[in-house]
Amino acid sequence: MKLFSEMMAGQTLLPIIQADSVEQGVAIAKAMAEAGLKVVEVVLRSEASLDALTAIKQQLPELIVGAGTVLDKDILAQALAAKADYIVTPCVTPDLLAALAESGVPAIPGVANCADIALARDAGFREVKLFPASLAGGIPFLKAVSSVFRDMTFCPTGGINADNCADFLALPNVIAVGGTWVAKKEWVDAQDWQAITDACREAISK
Ligand code: 3PG
Repeated sequence: MKLFSEMMAGQTLLPIIQADSVEQGVAIAKAMAEAGLKVVEVVLRSEASLDALTAIKQQLPELIVGAGTVLDKDILAQALAAKADYIVTPCVTPDLLAALAESGVPAIPGVANCADIALARDAGFREVKLFPASLAGGIPFLKAVSSVFRDMTFCPTGGINADNCADFLALPNVIAVGGTWVAKKEWVDAQDWQAITDACREAISK
């Protein structure tokens, strides 16, 4: 199974797509692809999310499309049935970690403290998401755990924005940063797709 970092192939931004409809999801994904992004994450937080994921994969076959907000095994099964290319979770449980390890697709389980990191590590994961990054200790936390969990790398998400993303990315144990700031709800509501492309371009230029 490919690692998340291998799949990212140097992309340092994991842009999040929150879609209330299939059309919205596809338009957001197009705006992100326009900025040169190859990997996007559709969070499963609306009735339309899974259908949006499928439609993005059909209409933009060059994109690698993951599913986020995968809280448990049942949601994981739905995401895999929708052919998600990779999985992001906001949390870890032994059941979820075992199912992720068996899923056959890259995954970054979400950790928020040392116990979570140890749990994910025991399940074989060396790449995890830190969530919610800004509240779970942010940059000082990532620096502190680097000396203990020397073989772990992180994708911080939650509270990342244009002002702090470069500081997170400067840390040696950070693979990429994720977030919704590049596809703000007000831009989506206003169908301002150019604003999304511009924010993504700015984020990957850091
Ligand atoms: C996530 O799903 O990782 C978070 O909701 C993203 O957090 P943000 O909205 O602060 O970027």
